[in-house]
Amino acid sequence: MVRAFVQEERELQRYAGRNDSLVRLNVQTIRAIRNTFPVIFLLSNLVSVVVVGYGGAAVIKGQFSVGDLVAFNAYLLLILQPVLLIGFAAPAIAQAATSAARVYEVVDAEVEIRDRPGAITFESCGGRITFESVCFRYPGSTREALQGISFETKPKQLIAVLGMTGSGKSTIMNLIPRFYDVTAGAVRIDGRDVREFSLSSLRSHIGTVFQESTLFSGSLRSNIAYAQPEASLEQVIAVAKTAQIHDFILSLPEGYDSPVGERGIGLSGGQKQRIAIARTLLTNYSILILDDSTSAVDAQTATDIQAALDALMRQRTCTSFVVAQRISTVQTADLILLMDQGRLVAQGTHASLMASSPLYGAILESQIQDQKRPSPKRP
Ligand SMILES: Nc1ncnc2c1ncn2[C@@H]1O[C@H](COP(=O)(O)OP(=O)(O)O)[C@@H](O)[C@H]1O
Ligand SMILES: [Mg+2]
Repeated sequence: MVRAFVQEERELQRYAGRNDSLVRLNVQTIRAIRNTFPVIFLLSNLVSVVVVGYGGAAVIKGQFSVGDLVAFNAYLLLILQPVLLIGFAAPAIAQAATSAARVYEVVDAEVEIRDRPGAITFESCGGRITFESVCFRYPGSTREALQGISFETKPKQLIAVLGMTGSGKSTIMNLIPRFYDVTAGAVRIDGRDVREFSLSSLRSHIGTVFQESTLFSGSLRSNIAYAQPEASLEQVIAVAKTAQIHDFILSLPEGYDSPVGERGIGLSGGQKQRIAIARTLLTNYSILILDDSTSAVDAQTATDIQAALDALMRQRTCTSFVVAQRISTVQTADLILLMDQGRLVAQGTHASLMASSPLYGAILESQIQDQKRPSPKRP
């Protein structure tokens, strides 16, 4: 990034600036030590002189024994040494306190989303998802990201979410697995508020492919089997085929054992997305959420993924949410949610929205990539 924007010079200066101020502070510390330590040592030695002088005189007068004087002096040194050591340790203590403050910032951070006392386990999903006048504002933000969103899905439906960038599509997706809790209103699954369920049971039934996919360092196989580490190679291959990444993986010299992550093989954005899809398909989801998950995949591959997912969604999941980029997804969706600036401005099927919403037509035209191949129709 720095090279692309030709900012080497400025970055170097920034680094040198920080470095200089570090050097300056260190020199200040060393100066402070240099100035104070001779004084401290002088004082402590003067104390010895006083002890020996005053005590020696007392010994000569016979008021004090030599043994007592030696013992007194030894005790005095034992006390002075640790005091001096504290002086040496002071800078290190200050540094540690600063580091500790930063560690505690993380350790003490409030966990905002947690199980309610007596949270119930999410066991099975009928597939009826209801948003009831949902309003949502991100923590620390002054603007509402969602305003009065209401809709209801029926079991086994495919829901396409459509809207401009920043209209709140990802935010809707985040509320179902409770990555955030609603500010007002409620999100319900089969009539139950999602806040009644325990987080782990709720999330383990929801398969999410995020807009930005993160792979962990390890092999491709361990990444795909992230949710089910004991999955067999056959299972891993099956989901990789659905996500249209199997052939690419086989073309690698090490196949499924190829390392990914910092020291691993380089992957394109589209390849990462497809691995993320495969990873999600290997979970026990009954609700599937695909957030812009094929945005970096070419149109042909995306169509293939869509076709494979379509077949899969019909047989396994109760309800699927897809942030749509393809006309085929929109056309076959049972319900389309049209978002605009945090509001749900229209909902319905492709045919009904074409007839009723001018915005729908405009967004379709500007956002949706054309589909050359005929798409498989959902029953
Ligand atoms: N973590 C966040 N904190 C604060 N505001 C956010 C956060 N994520 C998104 N937003 C805001 O919420 C709005 C909706 O964002 P998002 O749901 O990501 O849109 P979309 O997915 O439709 O592009 C945007 O205005 C965005 O700036
Ligand atoms: Mg988004």
